[in-house]
Amino acid sequence: MIRLDSFVVKGGKRLAGAVRVSGSKNAALPCLFATLLTDHEVVLDNVPDLQDIRTAVRLLERLGKRVTVRLGRVTVCKKGVLKERAPYDLVRRMRASAVVMGPLLARLGKADVSLPGGCAIGARPINFHLKAFESMGVKISVQEGYILAQGRLKGCRVKLPFASVGATENILMAASLAQGRTVLDNAAREPEITDLARLLTAMGARIHGAGTARIVIEGVKTLAGAHHRVIPDRIEAGTLLIAAAMTRGKVKLTDIDPSHLGAVIEALRRAGLNVSHSSNTLEAAWVRSLKPVSIKTRVYPGFPTDMQAQWMALMAVTPGRSVIQEDIFENRFLHAQELVRMGARIDVRGARAVIEGVPRLSGCPLMVSDLRAGAALVLAGLVARGQTRVLRVYHLDRGYERLEKKLRFLGANMRRVPQ
Ligand code: EPZ
Repeated sequence: MIRLDSFVVKGGKRLAGAVRVSGSKNAALPCLFATLLTDHEVVLDNVPDLQDIRTAVRLLERLGKRVTVRLGRVTVCKKGVLKERAPYDLVRRMRASAVVMGPLLARLGKADVSLPGGCAIGARPINFHLKAFESMGVKISVQEGYILAQGRLKGCRVKLPFASVGATENILMAASLAQGRTVLDNAAREPEITDLARLLTAMGARIHGAGTARIVIEGVKTLAGAHHRVIPDRIEAGTLLIAAAMTRGKVKLTDIDPSHLGAVIEALRRAGLNVSHSSNTLEAAWVRSLKPVSIKTRVYPGFPTDMQAQWMALMAVTPGRSVIQEDIFENRFLHAQELVRMGARIDVRGARAVIEGVPRLSGCPLMVSDLRAGAALVLAGLVARGQTRVLRVYHLDRGYERLEKKLRFLGANMRRVPQ
């Protein structure tokens, strides 16, 4: 049952202080599904307490795993026989479930996974995943909304038409237990891929080149258990840096890898924010009025699409003209119209948004459509005149661990209003 909680935010407070960044949702999810590749115990640390994680845990249990979750530590071990069917009622809640296909094919030689269906930001097909599996010897058919995949995985050369994160993860896991060598070209290079490869290697997989565009995997017979700590969430970190910039505050983030946020740090510095870092901390201090900076979303290490909505909120209150080009997803400007309702001046045409920054936004009721759009609306509420009520924050609960607590700790005037 989805709770229709909302956030009430009163704008005008400067954020100041230090918070620890939670573990990465987008690293933890594939790492959780990697546990399907072995019957031995796998322990994952620094796993954030999020709705998507709880959905992934339920799916693992449905597939035959015993999962215990305690204070950020998730322990996964064998409960019964591994099942091959990932049901619609769970897959529809979280499209990342599509990456159970690789592990199930690797272990069972078959997988019945519900087609994920689209989501607010786009159709988000998985054709690249399926085409790669077919080239690895898998027969694919679709029946009653389910993908039926069957076949013994053989290593081969795969070149992705687009550096898809999910497809790279699925192929990496399938190839780990395939017969022979797989060479994956145009692989995604996101830190979450490198983190998954670190876990798989700790389990005994033979992987070279994770984090580059060419990954070579030598299939092995079986994989063992492992103990792995998930990397910090670079998108949560980027969101908090922007909160500091918008409120003219000074925020320190701990337990973060600054090298995962290069493009975002570079754009913030170009805008005039003072950003400094050590090996595992990041500090953002507003020192002068910011300048508009245009961005184009790119695959890693370019400017991340998951930071696009937050960047638009920043540009909406940065006097001057900036342009945002969203080149990864086909419908990821849903937050623009909500910001316009607050008084922002944003003109969206296709994949391009032109923003004329205004001195002040006005608080009003807003509707969240997807995870990162929701973050952008909260950010706007932090600086808007008066009160902003952000509705349907369940979208945010999918991907931000205790966001309102962190922002309140930094001085924000915001509270959660239960349904
Ligand atoms: C991952 O989604 C992330 N999710 C997304 O984060 C992120 O926005 C995205 O990568 C891009 O960085 C998780 O890691 C759980 P893609 P994924 O495959 O794997 C098209 C968030 O906010 N495509 O790289 O689904 C696709 O439609 C979420 O945390 C195909 O056409 O992203 C999209 O336009 C949102 N066919 C583009 O590629 C395919 O087979 C990028 O998709 C696969 C993808």
